[in-house]
Amino acid sequence: MPVPPGDGPNPLLDGLRIEPTPEPTALVIFGASGDLTRRKLLLAVYQLSRAQRLPARFTVLGVARSPMTDDQFRQQFHDSLREFAGLARPDEVSSALARDVGYVQGELDDPGLYKRMMAKLTDMGAPDGVLYYFAIPPTVYATVVEQLGAAGLTRPATPDGWRRVIVEKPFGTDLESARELNGLLHAHMDESQIFRIDHYLGKETVQNLLVFRFANGMFEPVWNRRYIDHVQITAAETVGVERRASYYEGAGALRDMVQNHLMQVLAMIAMEPPIAFSAENVRDRKHDVLASIQPVINHDGHEDSVVRAQYAAGWVSGAEVPGYRDEDGVSSTSTTETYVALRLQLDSWRWAGVPFYLRTAKRLPKRTTEIAIQFRKPPLHIFKRISPTAVASNLLVVNVQPDEGISVRFEAKLPGSRMQLAPVMMNFRYGSAFGTAVPEAYETLLLDAMLGDPTLFARHDFVEASWGLITPIHEAWRGSEATAIPTYEAGEWGPREADAMMAADGRRWRTL
Ligand code: BG6
Repeated sequence: MPVPPGDGPNPLLDGLRIEPTPEPTALVIFGASGDLTRRKLLLAVYQLSRAQRLPARFTVLGVARSPMTDDQFRQQFHDSLREFAGLARPDEVSSALARDVGYVQGELDDPGLYKRMMAKLTDMGAPDGVLYYFAIPPTVYATVVEQLGAAGLTRPATPDGWRRVIVEKPFGTDLESARELNGLLHAHMDESQIFRIDHYLGKETVQNLLVFRFANGMFEPVWNRRYIDHVQITAAETVGVERRASYYEGAGALRDMVQNHLMQVLAMIAMEPPIAFSAENVRDRKHDVLASIQPVINHDGHEDSVVRAQYAAGWVSGAEVPGYRDEDGVSSTSTTETYVALRLQLDSWRWAGVPFYLRTAKRLPKRTTEIAIQFRKPPLHIFKRISPTAVASNLLVVNVQPDEGISVRFEAKLPGSRMQLAPVMMNFRYGSAFGTAVPEAYETLLLDAMLGDPTLFARHDFVEASWGLITPIHEAWRGSEATAIPTYEAGEWGPREADAMMAADGRRWRTL
């Protein structure tokens, strides 16, 4: 394994580090025959086991409506590993795990299912630490919570036991439904038992934002309105709606990506230093950020800080693709947005006057998620006579994915006898620096939930504050003309209106 440049040892090579191991756990997956389980969850369990991060006593119980035997569910486990981890045949790790895998079939609103579930766990000799995973449509969250509560399954049976639940996104569809869901969960569980997952928080680069900002002395002093001109957060995807039209039609980019993922990233960039790296301190400071964001819709209902659009037919990665309205399952008059751009103002001591621009879309030319911190120009261009072109501002870019890393752009003298300036980059790349693969977000988050550490999960107030910002935008859109949604050609960088929003501020979107 390559050793990182610099003087320090590579922490990843430090075999003596003691990693916490969760208490004995039974992972109960509701929605065990679904896509999320097949693509992500079973894989995460396998990778955690390979990394020796699972407790010695670990049971997986799948719960779903599809009829399946234990053996068939075990087979699904092996099939997932073959398809998504490239594991041609079961190895020692997957075979050992499969021995403690079981399945229960039933309707989620049938109290009998929950009795059978508990009987099965007892039969399997499962521990009393139970982590429920809601890999099910949000429409049935309430049913499962109520049934678990009614059956007394949200409380452990023994003093050493525990019960936790991981709730997938979307957490509600607006402020009211999010509040209702929080209310229902709190009626049966304490907040400490509830883990609202946002897979962006499990990404290494997003977690690293805290380390970058608060474990270094040199960035924090300039991390404010005095030195920063503006921030751009981009989550660009090349894929279209895929086979998710039934969900996406009712969601759109604002609900699908901004309310959760981009708000979390924004909070990590803009938060004040917490007094300690603890779940409550970190989440308190993140909540402050959301509380400081000014409403996007003006009092007069004006929407000049938000742009939505929908992709029309075009070319992406060399292939011709249909427009959104021609995708399977999408209405031919749909006004669901596949692109959204926002200008957010944070009314805080640190950020007053520094706009945060967010954009996310499907069918853009390139898949990339990045945060660009654009610094102010130096107050005086003293090289103006010898190098008349204006200097480029310093720029700090966090590449969230792919090619995870951080780059800094600064001006340098071009070699030669004349004084000429040119921008250069200083790069840190995870791949070359640590020589190790970045773990999947679901591995990190599943492990944290087993350990009972909610730092990287959304707290109830964050989710509600985020919906509090997003819901008025949806309301304003509902009031506008039914078919009035701008389009952008698939494979282009979004609609003209989004460029105009930037131009009105004398700025431009970064070209990626
Ligand atoms: C999901 C959205 O939450 O995030 C998808 O529902 C989107 O529409 C996905 O494609 C993007 O995740 P990532 O990790 O690929 O950036």
